[in-house]
Amino acid sequence: MLAALFLWALSAQAQTLNQRIEQCGACHGADGNSVMEKIPSLAGQPEFFVLNQLILIREGVRPIEAMQDVVKGLKDEDIVAIAAHFNKLVARPAGDKPDPAMVERGSLLSTKLRCTSCHGPALTGDQQMPRLAKQRIDYMAAALKDYRDNKRKGADTAMTAVIYGLNDADIDAIAHYAASR
Ligand code: HEC
Ligand code: HEC
Repeated sequence: MLAALFLWALSAQAQTLNQRIEQCGACHGADGNSVMEKIPSLAGQPEFFVLNQLILIREGVRPIEAMQDVVKGLKDEDIVAIAAHFNKLVARPAGDKPDPAMVERGSLLSTKLRCTSCHGPALTGDQQMPRLAKQRIDYMAAALKDYRDNKRKGADTAMTAVIYGLNDADIDAIAHYAASR
């Protein structure tokens, strides 16, 4: 029993960075573009955004149950390398398809709410601001509703203020628009 535990600890320690990245790919997509419902793509995300979120997730400030086991043993230098890895991958639509009518409605709302002032002119993100372009629609719609309803733990309050008072249909339209960029 003790020997088995020891061996288990050894193998956990001996995990290389590539093996860790493979684990991430099982959920977030091997090329960083997620094909799984409500799981975000990481390809082309700003390095600082991924680094920042991974620290929040590891420290339990943004608790994500599905990720608990994989983030537990992550050292700061692993996180830096993982963030650089996903930043270099090319973002491409891998999930749900934007609906043209929703995109049009979302476009008007996004202009009014000035999403590009923080997420960048092409919605590709910058620093702590995530990329929205080509992100999964179902993930973004759920994330936006979480911000609005104060359910996203550890979140920057900027997003809650932006999305305040929007109804579900508005949010869905905005998610279709952002994903289509
Ligand atoms: C078992 C599935 C699973 C595995 C394995 C997994 N994740 Fe996640 N990850 C998720 C889910 C689900 C979310 C979104 C949670 C939510 O709704 O906020 C997420 C969110 C994230 C986020 C936040 C992204 C954003 O746009 O807000 C980052 C960064 C992240 N994961 C990185 C990783 C890394 C790096 C690994 C490997 C070390 C990993 N994940 C492994 C399921 C997983
Ligand atoms: C004042 C700056 C600001 C503005 C304006 C803004 N955002 Fe954000 N947004 C942020 C920040 C910062 C985050 C990361 C927040 C966190 O810590 O969870 C974020 C996160 C998000 C996320 C979560 C993405 C992910 O991968 O987890 C979505 C979706 C999003 N914003 C969409 C929008 C949309 C759509 C608009 C316009 C309606 C908008 N944002 C306007 C600053 C802004």
